[in-house]
Amino acid sequence: MYEQVSHSLLNDILNRIKPEISNQDLRHFYTRLGANFYAIHSLFETLYGDREDFHKHAQCLVETMAQHYIKRPEHLRQIDLDREKDFNWFLHQKWVGMALYCNGFAGTLSGLQDRLGYFEELGVNLVHVMPILRCPEGSSDGGYAVSDFREIDPHIGTLEELSELAAEMRKREILLVLDVVVNHTSDQHYWAEQARSGDPVYQDYYYTFESREIPDLYEQGMPEIFPESSPGNFTWDETMERWVMTVFNDYQWDLNYSNPAVFIEMLNIILFWANQGADILRLDAVAFLWKKIGRVCQNEREAHLILQLLKDCCQVTAPGVLFIAEAIVAPLEVIKYFGEDAVIAKECEIAYNATFMALMWDAAATKNARLLNQGIKSLPVKLERATWLNYIRCHDDIGLGFDDQDIVACGYDPVPHRKFLIDYFTGQFDESHARGLPFGQNSKTGDARISGSLASLVGLQHALETGDEQAIDDSIKLILLLHNLILSFGGLPLLYYGDALGTLNDDSYLGDPYKKGDNRWVHRPTIDWQKADLRSVPGTLEYKIFNPLKKMIAVRKELQVFADFNNRELYDLDNPHLFVFERYSLTSPAERVLVVANFSNQTQLMTFEDIGTWGAGYGGLVDQISGECFEKTGASLEIQGYGYYWFKEQR
Ligand code: GLC
Ligand code: GLC
Repeated sequence: MYEQVSHSLLNDILNRIKPEISNQDLRHFYTRLGANFYAIHSLFETLYGDREDFHKHAQCLVETMAQHYIKRPEHLRQIDLDREKDFNWFLHQKWVGMALYCNGFAGTLSGLQDRLGYFEELGVNLVHVMPILRCPEGSSDGGYAVSDFREIDPHIGTLEELSELAAEMRKREILLVLDVVVNHTSDQHYWAEQARSGDPVYQDYYYTFESREIPDLYEQGMPEIFPESSPGNFTWDETMERWVMTVFNDYQWDLNYSNPAVFIEMLNIILFWANQGADILRLDAVAFLWKKIGRVCQNEREAHLILQLLKDCCQVTAPGVLFIAEAIVAPLEVIKYFGEDAVIAKECEIAYNATFMALMWDAAATKNARLLNQGIKSLPVKLERATWLNYIRCHDDIGLGFDDQDIVACGYDPVPHRKFLIDYFTGQFDESHARGLPFGQNSKTGDARISGSLASLVGLQHALETGDEQAIDDSIKLILLLHNLILSFGGLPLLYYGDALGTLNDDSYLGDPYKKGDNRWVHRPTIDWQKADLRSVPGTLEYKIFNPLKKMIAVRKELQVFADFNNRELYDLDNPHLFVFERYSLTSPAERVLVVANFSNQTQLMTFEDIGTWGAGYGGLVDQISGECFEKTGASLEIQGYGYYWFKEQR
């Protein structure tokens, strides 16, 4: 019955479609629309069906998809077809990513194009260029406060330069990832300006209120994201004389997705960037898309429906384009951003693995892998056609977002354990040489997160300042060990720019009035390319990090079992310092790799008894990275301090 309703609605819409659309060759479009319309209609109706103007919006939705399909360049349509056939293409082990700020990395878009050789040298073939759109002069949350979703920041370049960059990247087989900041706009966006001037149509794009009454009700359920710099979730706008919802900074206005016009605007923008040649779109802050009084206003069911609807619509127009969910939320919530009850991702194909990230930092601080093991064990298995984005550092702070129950299962008390980690990474103990900064401290809840560059967090900065060779060596090993894990865990490894060169904290943000209140800038460096050149000079720090990393990336690409098909098994070892898992092949059981990482700086023993059939009947284990063979002479193997290995059995 319902399918018939959906069918007749589609007929209606198609009959009324504008002639400039219906005159086009829309074969693939119609096939895909037919296949997805039932889902699209159901979702759109669930979200907006009770509105009188529902049909008008449904018409507009279909026309939006069609218009972008018509504009989609031929070579991108061809890629769509190829990827529809090879639909697991992104699960392959050949992909290795890096996230960067265009200005910090290379100044401008054309500068970035000149630096593509750097990625090729390292083996990176997926580049996430963080926001490059026009945003307010002054505070702009690193570009995440967008003033125009279709115009490039003039300091960075032009749309033509972006399209040149995209074309050049495609030629070199490097994927382009761009952001779409779906949750909010800057207060200087046209929509915000119209709202401010009193236009009710645009006021309805946001959550605005004339008194505190409703905001106060919302506040009861909503946590604060930036409690220090931007407390509360509403800001009074003098000109508009209304309160406006601003979950992040006071100049970032939350979009109102209960208004279908907002949904269609954002779909329009997503499809626009898909047509500019982005292979993957990173949807920012997706957990926040739906607000409801009395709720936390994160991970609401409707936020998921919106993502499903965006995915289904993108599937019709630009099916080759993938979505990354930036949802830095609890482990059981993150997994839902792939879409529930499905094999194929119904929302985002890729999601930040914030749990793994935070757990690795726990292991780095405690020098043991107990919580890491426990936390990974309780991480639900992801869908088949979906993958994790595995990272150590990114442009944001580190939140210790793992599960309290897992902390308890490891024999720690959650509150003091988290406090220990914050103190550890902010260098509060004599034994801790980490140089992190506390971020987002909330005196009401006791929460805090951590800023700092990878190198400074693992003690490299301290080691260099004190000239402690052993400590320098240990820090480098830890940097490599963490990268070793994101390269082998299963998923897309995403390096953070600067980390392959051992970039330290950068305090220069303190001299900028628009940045000094946000210490995440301490780890958003400007690359010093003269220093970066030292990566080819043996004996330098840059050399000692860059080259082993480059080697590991090359080896990863050769190991088919590193493709992400839920083909990982954790080993529970008696020795808590070791984190050990196997990656196996689903088709040929003899193909397998044992990943071993030692979070202690001391040599540790790994007993053969603990690793099942590994080593049984074989001569020994060969580390695929160094080529070194570990003969089986006794009951255990010696694993070096901060050692990391990708073992195969010797045949
Ligand atoms: C995302 C971004 C972060 C930004 C926030 C608000 O979490 O990664 O940098 O502050 O969204 O846009
Ligand atoms: C996102 C994340 C949060 C992070 C913030 C930016 O909202 O959920 O953990 O701290 O952006 O810093």
